[in-house]
Amino acid sequence: MYSAEEFNEFYNLFSNYNNDLFKHICTIDRNIRKQILDVACGTGLSTSAIQINYPLSHIDAFDLDKSLIDYAIKLEELKDINFFVHDAKIPNALNGSWDLIVVKSSLHLFFDHSILKGYLNLLNEKGVLCLLETTHTSIDSYPILNNAKNIWKKNIPTERKAELVKEFRNIDGFDFTSSSFGYDVKISSRVLNNAVKNKQISCLWEIADEQIREWMTRPYSKADFVDVFAEFDVFFLKKQ
Ligand SMILES: C[S@@+](CC[C@H](N)C(=O)[O-])C[C@H]1O[C@@H](n2cnc3c(N)ncnc32)[C@H](O)[C@@H]1O
Repeated sequence: MYSAEEFNEFYNLFSNYNNDLFKHICTIDRNIRKQILDVACGTGLSTSAIQINYPLSHIDAFDLDKSLIDYAIKLEELKDINFFVHDAKIPNALNGSWDLIVVKSSLHLFFDHSILKGYLNLLNEKGVLCLLETTHTSIDSYPILNNAKNIWKKNIPTERKAELVKEFRNIDGFDFTSSSFGYDVKISSRVLNNAVKNKQISCLWEIADEQIREWMTRPYSKADFVDVFAEFDVFFLKKQ
């Protein structure tokens, strides 16, 4: 289970990187995007990076976890965002249509081609579905338990990602592009260890508490900071 404060503290370590990731997206997609939807927005960290890069857009954002949405709603800097609770697995139950639909860091939790295709029906003319997910190279760079990394990677195995790309390349009426964006990010060891201890990264949910406690006591780096390679796949499906 997520705790909004601990979740936000951990993922906030990547706020500069997130801003740069969406800057990268703006360089690929130079269109004005008036209506944007952020799918599975958590506490609004992805939403904030979208807002910074699309300051004139109206942004809707939802998550399944009400406690994360309640946290986001209280943030003064995100007061113009329309946050709500919804299950990403039922895109057809959403009311509206958008110029840009973003699914960031949550694809691995509902990696299903038919669900993703459901979002294509919600795009306006020339609209884009943008899928952003951490690469395996990035996952390998995290100093966390090896079996947690394997669980993370198992959620989007290389071969299933290749199948998705193959299928998305051939959808009538859509252009597909893919790229990746990454660089080293220095993060606080204290915050990372806290996130591991309190299982704020979903791949830790299946790991026994005992194993995590054991990992916490091993002589890991005493450094205040640790470098991780933050890298995302950027998949774009643009309506012709
Ligand atoms: C790693 S967080 C990413 C949050 C945000 N997109 C970001 O990049 O900061 C994954 C999020 O997916 C949400 N989530 C998982 N399953 C979901 C579902 N079926 N519908 C909506 N949100 C879901 C979780 O509650 C969590 O907030």
